[in-house]
Amino acid sequence: MDKIEITGGVRLKGEVTISGAKNAVLPLMTATILSSGESIINNIPQLRDVMTMGKLLAHLGFGFHLENNQILLQTKKITSVDAPYDFVKTMRASVLVLGPLLARTGRARVSLPGGCAIGARPINLHIMGLEKMGARVILSEGYIEAKAKRLKGATIYFDIPTVTGTENLMMAATLADGTTLLENAACEPEVTDLANALISMGADIEGAGTSIIRINGVNRLKPLIYKVIPDRIEAATFIAAAAATQGDIKINSCKPGHIDAIVNKMTEAGVKALHKNDKFIVKGPERLSSIDIKTMPYPGFPTDMQAQFMAMMAIADSTSLITESIFENRFMHVAELRRMGADIKVEGSTATVKGVKSLKGAPVMATDLRASASLVVAGLAAKGTTVIDRVYHLDRGYEKLEEKLKMLGAKIRRVK
Ligand code: EPU
Repeated sequence: MDKIEITGGVRLKGEVTISGAKNAVLPLMTATILSSGESIINNIPQLRDVMTMGKLLAHLGFGFHLENNQILLQTKKITSVDAPYDFVKTMRASVLVLGPLLARTGRARVSLPGGCAIGARPINLHIMGLEKMGARVILSEGYIEAKAKRLKGATIYFDIPTVTGTENLMMAATLADGTTLLENAACEPEVTDLANALISMGADIEGAGTSIIRINGVNRLKPLIYKVIPDRIEAATFIAAAAATQGDIKINSCKPGHIDAIVNKMTEAGVKALHKNDKFIVKGPERLSSIDIKTMPYPGFPTDMQAQFMAMMAIADSTSLITESIFENRFMHVAELRRMGADIKVEGSTATVKGVKSLKGAPVMATDLRASASLVVAGLAAKGTTVIDRVYHLDRGYEKLEEKLKMLGAKIRRVK
């Protein structure tokens, strides 16, 4: 299993270009199920999750070809409506085939995801929505089996705004009979991006990016030709890395509007982050100021940046309270950061982080994607050498992370 070795203490300097967004590309790939023909998606990040989704679509009978950050998907024939456990257990986003498969073929059989490293993560709201649209859904042998001759428009209220739930039901509703209203919908930029892509395929959608989305069903959609938005969490992770190393970097190809909440908090912590068009200039302070954050659905501070922000706060000047309000178990990085000398106590959903002067390199274990990213940020800032085990988590969501950090001067290498 690959490991990453980082010798910390180097101030990051230089330029980095952000890749396409993982959490945008995965729903876009499943949106192609809704049409028959050749879809093309550009600005694809080369990630393990993209490959897993490609294999799942190939399993459904589609042609899948990835070359030079472009995907070609041939979606004429569907030979299976099954998303087997092996796919879903390696990548929960596999559940995003449920809505589109049901809408196009009237049937879908998708393995129920189990809990994962960050929480129980049920999909009851996806199922509730499909049932409201007239689908018959049963649970059999660990699989959700859904059937519907043609889905019907419905008013669906989410108790909790769910990103993939909103995406699944928005896709399902595009081909439904009548109008669907999604209320208390997720407002994340990836949801808006999916809506824009569906509109380009001929869907009739209004309100994406707000908490009420209206979808008027149409009879058919055409194939997708689209470019993925930049990854806001990757951009923010580089801001955190520069912030923690007193770095001075330029970040190209990001959408500053997507990371307002993060940049506000970074600024409060003493980071200088100035943007011009799609570029950010980031300068880390000599010592970060401790500030509090609470994760919230967009446009609040994203849970996907909580771990990386905690790594920054571990070396800030006083005490920071970090509250995780989205997932019940997203503090797995705490024990690893402690191994590097961080002073962090967790009580319920809040971590109290007392900043220390410096962290010390140590062997640590990655437990999920963003926890791994926080260990990278900590390793870059720490004195000495950090070896991060189970790097495959990073490969799921960060394209060429070591190469990009190396370009910024980091002493980082992958150990096979
Ligand atoms: N929830 C329910 N029932 C549901 C669906 C969600 O109770 O049917 C709860 C969840 O347990 C959680 C909250 O609602 O407490 C929000 O979860 P959400 O459904 O929004 O999460 P997700 O759609 O499964 C996506 C991202 C995650 C990101 C979250 C929150 C993708 C592929 N994944 O997950 O990304 O953390 O939204 O923003 O878009 C990551 O990239 O590292 C990652 C985990």
